[in-house]
Amino acid sequence: MKPIPKTTKKAMRIDIITVLPELLESPLNHSIMKRAKEKGLLEVNLISLRDFATDKHHTVDDYQYGGGAGMVMMCEPISSCIEHLKSERTYDEIIYMTPDGETLSQKQLNKFSLLQNIIILCGHYKGIDERIRQLYITKEISIGDYVLSGGELAAAVFTDGVGRLLPGVLNDETSALTDSFQDNLLAPPVYTRPPVFNGLEVPEVLLSGHEKKIQEWRFEQSMERTRQRRPDLLKE
Ligand code: ADE
Repeated sequence: MKPIPKTTKKAMRIDIITVLPELLESPLNHSIMKRAKEKGLLEVNLISLRDFATDKHHTVDDYQYGGGAGMVMMCEPISSCIEHLKSERTYDEIIYMTPDGETLSQKQLNKFSLLQNIIILCGHYKGIDERIRQLYITKEISIGDYVLSGGELAAAVFTDGVGRLLPGVLNDETSALTDSFQDNLLAPPVYTRPPVFNGLEVPEVLLSGHEKKIQEWRFEQSMERTRQRRPDLLKE
């Protein structure tokens, strides 16, 4: 009988289009993201939008029609950048980071972590020309009801959230499953040594070695914490 070939999944590829690639270098090159890349499970490319500007000043923004404060990111550089990327491979999603997008959740991160190729476009100034949204963008994502000065930090949040879910990235494969929100529950409290600190003791059950009781205690603590802090999650 022929041996079953090992499935070698290609690294997930995230191409981030930005006017500030430097802003993303550090957050995506340490700790778990660094490990994901070194293991060949995640490839992140920072693409400078200014490289796709056509004038000598590398202009990517312009005044908005109708007047009003704030510049708008122009169609042409974004369009040529996306067309260039699309000519090289197929993308599952082209995501625009924007405060008026759908709020990012763990459920969505789980889904995105199954994709192969993603483009993330980071907005700046007043945002991007609406026609780019109509022509190219397949998902609009916000990381919360507040406004940042650009989409870069949101793109870093997204990439980190997805990257750590890729199989093989975390040492203990079960640890992402026990994260807060994975069951619509917040994670239970955790403790490490010493057993007594400033008079506060580690709950006895955690020292008991009784696996079933520990599981039950953790579940009860998760429920209690969720009830107190995020009762909205229990209604979902
Ligand atoms: N750009 C500016 N603010 C943002 C937010 N809250 N989420 C995603 N992108 C953004």
